[in-house]
Amino acid sequence: MKKKITLSLVAVLVVIQFFRIDKTNPPSDPEMSLFVVEQVPENVESIIKNSCFDCHSNNSKYPWYTNVAPVSWWVKSHINEAREELNFNEWGSYSVKKKMHKLEELEEEVGEGEMPLPSYLIAHGDARLTKEEQKRLINWAKGLRTGEKIEEK
Ligand code: HEC
Repeated sequence: MKKKITLSLVAVLVVIQFFRIDKTNPPSDPEMSLFVVEQVPENVESIIKNSCFDCHSNNSKYPWYTNVAPVSWWVKSHINEAREELNFNEWGSYSVKKKMHKLEELEEEVGEGEMPLPSYLIAHGDARLTKEEQKRLINWAKGLRTGEKIEEK
């Protein structure tokens, strides 16, 4: 009985490997990039590229374990959802209202430690934001949203 269950499980795991995810990054208009449309200091750009880009851009990198279902499906669904909510490559196509709202959300999510997604940090320890990086990112977003320059502490 136990052997049968194990064998069926293995069979399922083998079969699901045939359902591969699409890893092609969608094309983007370079003119719409956040870094072209807004003034983004280099030390903020590097945080976004290092900690957010795998999900919130059209430049996702797929590590080896994204070849393994069902992990691959789980990762891909995060990327799809993240791009839909906020795609830094498409920033220029957002309305002012949408930009303001996304910046506000960013301040909130980063401030509460909800972004980058904690599950992502298991395999991407270097994407974890230090307190200082969190503050820098939040202050930048606040500055852009309110049009004020906020002093870096
Ligand atoms: C592993 C993928 C992943 C990474 C990395 C990631 N995010 Fe997200 N993000 C998501 C997903 C999925 C959602 C949508 C679900 C949710 O809100 O939890 C989201 C939602 C958001 C939202 C909310 C948008 C809205 O309108 O509600 C903001 C803002 C955000 N992320 C900012 C960031 C920032 C800034 C970083 C980098 C510091 C980051 N995220 C890194 C996956 C990711």
